[in-house]
Amino acid sequence: MTHVQGKSSAGARPSSIKPATGKLGILTPGLGAVATTFIAGVESVRRNQSQPIGSLTQMATIRLGKRTENRSPLIKDFVPLAGLNDLVFGAWDPIPDDALTAAKKAGVLEERDLQPIAKFLGDIKPMPAVFDNRYVTRLHGENVKKGKTKRDLAEQLRQDIRDFKKKNSLDRVVAVWCASTETFIKPGPQHATVEQFEKAMERNDDAIAPSMLYAWACIMEGVPYCNGAPNLAVDTAALQQLANDRGVPISGKDFKTGQTWMKTVIAPGLKARMLGLAGWYSTNILGNRDGEVLDDPASFKTKEESKLSVLHTILQPEAYPQLYKDFSHVVRINYYPPRGDNKEGWDNIDIFGWMGYPMQIKVNFLCRDSILAAPIVLDLALFSDFAHRAGMKGIQEWLSFYYKSPMAAAGLQPEHDLFIQQTKLKNTLRHLMGEEQITHLGLEYYQS
Ligand SMILES: NC(=O)c1ccc[n+]([C@@H]2O[C@H](COP(=O)([O-])OP(=O)(O)OC[C@H]3O[C@@H](n4cnc5c(N)ncnc54)[C@H](O)[C@@H]3O)[C@@H](O)[C@H]2O)c1
Repeated sequence: MTHVQGKSSAGARPSSIKPATGKLGILTPGLGAVATTFIAGVESVRRNQSQPIGSLTQMATIRLGKRTENRSPLIKDFVPLAGLNDLVFGAWDPIPDDALTAAKKAGVLEERDLQPIAKFLGDIKPMPAVFDNRYVTRLHGENVKKGKTKRDLAEQLRQDIRDFKKKNSLDRVVAVWCASTETFIKPGPQHATVEQFEKAMERNDDAIAPSMLYAWACIMEGVPYCNGAPNLAVDTAALQQLANDRGVPISGKDFKTGQTWMKTVIAPGLKARMLGLAGWYSTNILGNRDGEVLDDPASFKTKEESKLSVLHTILQPEAYPQLYKDFSHVVRINYYPPRGDNKEGWDNIDIFGWMGYPMQIKVNFLCRDSILAAPIVLDLALFSDFAHRAGMKGIQEWLSFYYKSPMAAAGLQPEHDLFIQQTKLKNTLRHLMGEEQITHLGLEYYQS
């Protein structure tokens, strides 16, 4: 088989992808630990004071063609992504702190990293948020929009997006939710169709949370929307339909950073070797504002659902009952202020092997939540903008790589295995750029 550059069997046409001209605005609902660490990091990289460590769009390569061709460009040289110098940041937050004050309060970055970019961060001030304390009970903020109906509030968000675009002479805008985890909401009839959703907004139905209003406003303004929290938000039939109708890429839910990222690395390893699992106990301590919000059982329930789904989908107990039926899975988050953003996670994994003999794996992960999340925000923003220019719309399953609770089409099991997700991501880029898929078969190297 010969490799033909620039053609794919699926007929993708890179020439039809709009170029990344002009400036790209990145809006974050939420200007807390994750958002400020992300913004500060990008600015620091732009000034050659840091490296974009953890970001695939900035550091990873992608193999193209046969191994003998030795073609492995950087992803950013292969795919037309917006450049870091073309990014402009904006945010909404019920707490009026500018990005410098918020970053200092979050306590993730040290003074030596903040001081050189203090003016830049100080100039980023959050727009008034759509915020309702009933959905995030531990927070109280005064930088909040007023409106008679939820629809009024969402319309104000749309106006903010238009103003932000105009004021900064932007070509395009994307949004990444970096705000708090809301209380648990189950999909109901209010989320079933666009019509029902909009009617529910108009009658101030409780089933419509602030995060859904941001998602609706973004989609209406043609702004790709990425959901970094486990909130239902854009993961409803109504908003998926709206995104499809309006040709807007959406993705979610919940950034895959610390313990869950580790789970999606270790669990595929156990399954690949057909080793059994009796139980997996995860606990952690963290002391940032996110930890405080999650201290409320209603917000924790949203997070717990997101964290629990991972192992079942990877291990498939239905297919392997001898190995994975009825394993215990417990997830705890403990708010412990002295730890700040520097989370410590413990996993105790009870596994069994040949003839049923038990073994244990212990993981003690001293991580920094926002340091792990910031490059994910960057990649999601750049890839979603690229997807939009490439004509992609609706759920972007190829971005599952970045999420704990990946969204998938109705009736489809989400893919949780990090390595399958990585292959899917890279193959999507190859597909969109008209390159052949890599199957890793490799028999051709051994045929004389
Ligand atoms: N850091 C991680 O590793 C990680 C991983 C997965 C998910 N997340 C999620 O990312 C989100 C941000 O995390 P963080 O550590 O930055 O939290 P944070 O508490 O520091 O920041 C969240 C900010 O969102 C604001 N906010 C709350 N409701 C809002 C609304 N309706 N509109 C606009 N702003 C609103 C809060 O005032 C706060 O400033 C959380 O939902 C968290 O669960 C974080």
